Amino acid sequence: MHLTCTVVKVVMVVGMLMVMTPNSDALSGKTPPGPGLLGSFTQLKRVVSDFFRSRSAAEMISEKEGGLYQLNLGLSKICFINSRGFRDEAFLEKYHLFSDRGVESNKKQLPEELMQWRGTIRDNGAASEEARAFVNSTLKETSYLRTTVETQIEEAIAFFDDELTGAIPSDLVVPKMIFREHVLDVMTRIAFDTAGHRNTISGQWQFQKFFEDVDALSNSVLFQPGFISTVLPNTKVDDYETNLVGVAKYLKERAEEAIYTNRETSLVQRYSDFFLKRESSIAQPEDGWRLMYDFFTAGVNTVPEVITWDIYYLASDLDLQDKIRQEMKNFGTDVTYDDRTSLPRTMSFLTEVHRLRPVATLGIPHAASADGTIGGYAIDKETLIIPNHWAMHNDPADWQSDPQVFDATRFLKLNGNDLTFDSDKARIVTPFSVGPRSCPGQEVAAGPSF
Ligand code: HEM
Ligand SMILES: *[C@@H]1O[C@H](CO)[C@@H](O)[C@H](O)[C@H]1NC(C)=O
Repeated sequence: MHLTCTVVKVVMVVGMLMVMTPNSDALSGKTPPGPGLLGSFTQLKRVVSDFFRSRSAAEMISEKEGGLYQLNLGLSKICFINSRGFRDEAFLEKYHLFSDRGVESNKKQLPEELMQWRGTIRDNGAASEEARAFVNSTLKETSYLRTTVETQIEEAIAFFDDELTGAIPSDLVVPKMIFREHVLDVMTRIAFDTAGHRNTISGQWQFQKFFEDVDALSNSVLFQPGFISTVLPNTKVDDYETNLVGVAKYLKERAEEAIYTNRETSLVQRYSDFFLKRESSIAQPEDGWRLMYDFFTAGVNTVPEVITWDIYYLASDLDLQDKIRQEMKNFGTDVTYDDRTSLPRTMSFLTEVHRLRPVATLGIPHAASADGTIGGYAIDKETLIIPNHWAMHNDPADWQSDPQVFDATRFLKLNGNDLTFDSDKARIVTPFSVGPRSCPGQEVAAGPSF
């Protein structure tokens, strides 16, 4: 077994050396370093085989020298950003150039009859600005988070507690499934202000079918037609269509119901109110479900994955588990989200999980809306820009101890005699990315996973 692995590795390394001829004009300092046209197609196969979520793809790309690495696929170009400096230049300083999602030529590939069912995640320009303005006034707004979202999350946690207590051991074998149901419940409460419940006769989770559709969808969301399928040979369009329409119809119905019964604390009702006042020519008051579509697909797999890693590391280190339990015990009363700053060990531990196991290893692709530069390199209009969070979190220059080792104390520092959380160091850890197009669900995600 070991031998085969080594053989495969050697073959791969040799293969890679062969295709690593540089982009033709990289030598004149114009395009970012990369393997050139022929090499790009060869490498793409490996990057795509376990695309975007893949740590091995991220590692492979980060091995290449320099902060940028570009695959040149003829008309399509994919530029990976491996360093924080270049990432900040693109997503903060030059966000107006590098905050688009899909590019126009890709978008057109979505069949006409499906256009009405899509979410907002690929919107660019004014449409995405509008969605962001709404998010800024809700999911990014402290008082809304405190009063509404926190209550909804607490209710979901109480419900989750009951479910766990009543669970039969075989249900607990796949913890990630249980976390997923929980997160789905949290999001249903936030979006529609309705509680999840089980069917008393079948015992089935109320939104089981929906959940399965979302699950399939979020696994394939990056492979959706018209997103990067120009470079992906075997996108499963049929499955994707079924899931997309299934999820969209379900959300649209729930949204109509929430608005019809005037559930004021539901996010879709807020959306409706927001755009009634704003009189936008783009976002209509009844479009809230499109945004919910993105929230569900983006949230249902990510948060449970983080919680699963949290549990994994706690389970594999009893000493750590004790220390964290002790810290919470010492704190006294029921720990809430607001108390997190007084729990340095817990915060350091959670940050370390985010650092070493960023869920969106290679983020969600951005696209260049016009010709521009990053780090002095020319980036053509419509180039996909992919931030390599894994590489940024593992840059040896940032860490004293080996970045590849899990160290739950990495973000602790002594302040006099007090152990405190090193929030400056934690700022390097950016699993939600940065800038105006960064994750709108960051604060929501922090709720259940804290
Ligand atoms: C630990 C959990 C999560 C992680 C690590 C995460 C990470 C990310 C990242 C890296 C992006 C891409 C940002 C960029 O392109 O610059 C993103 C986008 C997004 N996330 Fe999250 N996310 C998480 C949970 C959630 C949750 C719970 C929600 C919904 C409430 C959510 C909703 C979204 C949406 C809608 C986008 C697309 C934003 C846009 O295109 O403008 N995410 N997320
Ligand atoms: C939303 O808030 C962020 C952070 O304050 C800001 O950078 C962005 O421009 C805002 N977006 C809109 C559309 O208001």
